[in-house]
Amino acid sequence: MNENASKHKSAESGYRAWLSYNKALPGAQLEKNRQWGGAIVSLEEQETIQAAAAELKLGLEAMLGHSVSASAEQGQRYITLGTFAALNVRYQGLFSEKDIRAAKAEGFVIRTSHAHSCLAIGAASPAGVLYGVFHLLRLIGTGAAIDELDLVSAPVNGLRMINHWDNFDGSIERGYAGNSFLYTNNRFTKDQERLRDYARMMASVGINAIVINNVNVHQEETLFITSTYLPQVAKLAAIFRVYGIRLYLSINFASPIQIGGLVTADPLDQKVQAWWSNKASEIYAAIPDFGGFLVKADSENRPGPFTYDRDHAEGANMLAQALEPHGGIVIWRCFVYNCKQDWRDRTTDRARAAYDHFKPLDGRFNDNVVLQIKNGPLDFQVREPVSPLFGALEHTNQLIEFQITQEYTGQQRHLCYLVPQWKEILEFNTYAEGKQAPVKRIVDGSLWGNSINGMAAVTNVGADSNWSGHLLAQANLYGYGRLAWNPELTSEQIASEWIQLTLTLDTAVHDVALGLLMDSWSIYESYTAPLGIGWMVNPDHHYGPNVDGYEYSPWGTYHFADNNGLGVDRTVQTGTGYSAQYMGTNAEVYNSLEHCPDELLLFFHHVPYTHVLHSGKTVIQHIYDTHFEGVERAAQLLAAWSTLKGQLEEGLYLQVEERLREQARHAEEWRDQINTYFLRKSGIEDEHHRKIY
Ligand code: GCU
Repeated sequence: MNENASKHKSAESGYRAWLSYNKALPGAQLEKNRQWGGAIVSLEEQETIQAAAAELKLGLEAMLGHSVSASAEQGQRYITLGTFAALNVRYQGLFSEKDIRAAKAEGFVIRTSHAHSCLAIGAASPAGVLYGVFHLLRLIGTGAAIDELDLVSAPVNGLRMINHWDNFDGSIERGYAGNSFLYTNNRFTKDQERLRDYARMMASVGINAIVINNVNVHQEETLFITSTYLPQVAKLAAIFRVYGIRLYLSINFASPIQIGGLVTADPLDQKVQAWWSNKASEIYAAIPDFGGFLVKADSENRPGPFTYDRDHAEGANMLAQALEPHGGIVIWRCFVYNCKQDWRDRTTDRARAAYDHFKPLDGRFNDNVVLQIKNGPLDFQVREPVSPLFGALEHTNQLIEFQITQEYTGQQRHLCYLVPQWKEILEFNTYAEGKQAPVKRIVDGSLWGNSINGMAAVTNVGADSNWSGHLLAQANLYGYGRLAWNPELTSEQIASEWIQLTLTLDTAVHDVALGLLMDSWSIYESYTAPLGIGWMVNPDHHYGPNVDGYEYSPWGTYHFADNNGLGVDRTVQTGTGYSAQYMGTNAEVYNSLEHCPDELLLFFHHVPYTHVLHSGKTVIQHIYDTHFEGVERAAQLLAAWSTLKGQLEEGLYLQVEERLREQARHAEEWRDQINTYFLRKSGIEDEHHRKIY
């Protein structure tokens, strides 16, 4: 490695992320852990188990500060890892039937056995063994004792998927951490080490599926499923495979025309069906465990079945039939809406679109199709209601789609820890079947027994040394994986783990960093678009304030502010009727001006500036107050971080300081533009007479 490359991947760059394996704090605990962690006995040659053993050695040596041998001496304690089948032959009865049932296909059991003088990590599958190893390393990394372990963990969600929006030219759609590390200038990257490190990071939080290209599939990427690029896609799949990750591709629905020489991509045309079926065979010949296709169809100018007057069930099922003999799946996105609407037309409501398109198709999708539904009805705003499609599709496999990359939440220049937002969404009761039916139980398949279930998220990584641009934005990537594995973890627990593993075990530093992360979503919300209305960003790139940026555009995202008030009337009586897409009390609560929660008021109602919120403030005073406070709170983030100077790796300290400084300054821009806009529109003075322009 040359000097530049080694600096790039050094500790102070943040490259090692939560796999830093920082040296454990000295003390009795360390001495105890050392007694177990001096040797690793691995019985199986399988590549994933070997990778797990190598990871364990790496982590133990770094954290415990001693060398780890591959066999134990007489009487020496050690760690062993392997499949239940193999371990139970050597250590009879170590894992019971109950253990095996509890760990399921991908989970693991970790047990300290004093009788056998070993700490054993057992699992049904090699991937489970790997997850178990990462779990043990996480325990040690967060300062836990390992001499009395007895635990089982299995992932709650089936698919724990990452979506890359990387383009083959090396750019990333909505990427804020540099260019792609998968591709440069229409070539696959040569940096195998980085790819492996990436796979390690993803596996360490339980990711088992990665889509390697943007949902907007351009000309070159359309060729990924041809002999031109399949061998290279296969090489990437082989790296992922070692870490228990299946590779998926976004495909172009018009491929039969663009690369197949056909005149149509009509899903009911037999030639088209045969073309896809042959294509699937070709892909599986190259990548036997290929995951399947992710499809953005009839959305934002992408081709789809509507061109042929076919519906989305017909489109998705055609692809599903092609993949079915090979065990592949189709992930079909529900982000379908009219992006060419007339802003004068008040009857078309983009928020309604996903439900209106897909609810009528419930029950018509093949078993190997899964719908991917964005968490909200619009597009990853800092605050939106939960998509009403959750709860409405009783007979359809479905995934929730989150956005880790901070397109509308500060683009990794502002701090916005998103796990609390995702938790809130997952806990939302949909009232499906009139009962307790939170989104998390629909997503994990337990409510209706969906065969394909789980989560997908658009990732925030790029070629920047620290992967995510803003070092603290790593916590979102980490948190997504942890939450997909176990939605019951709290936001604090997840943040806390990430801090301890990445930054330091020092409790004073930890507490400051935790405070920053936990406050950040609310701070970002307070100085940007108010009360759930969203948008108000610069068109195209979506960074920074622009209240009317989308007001007269065709994208269906309006605030309708005039001199009396603002907000979108989505009620049944006088508005677009969107509120009726919800079930049970949700529909009534959102439809009611009186009961609608403050934070979503302007999403559902058009109100005068003088409307009084539940908080007791008028809407206009709320806007002024939150924007002034938000700026102060953003400045406090910087001040709090500054107290850590000298207490953690300087490189890590400085990169965060630089971002928090920009955030504090840029928050002022948000405050002044929003407040000034609404003062001028409403003519209502701030009660506290602060400076508005
Ligand atoms: C948003 C985003 C686009 C992206 C799209 C999608 O609209 O701005 O860049 O392509 O979502 O999810 O498909």
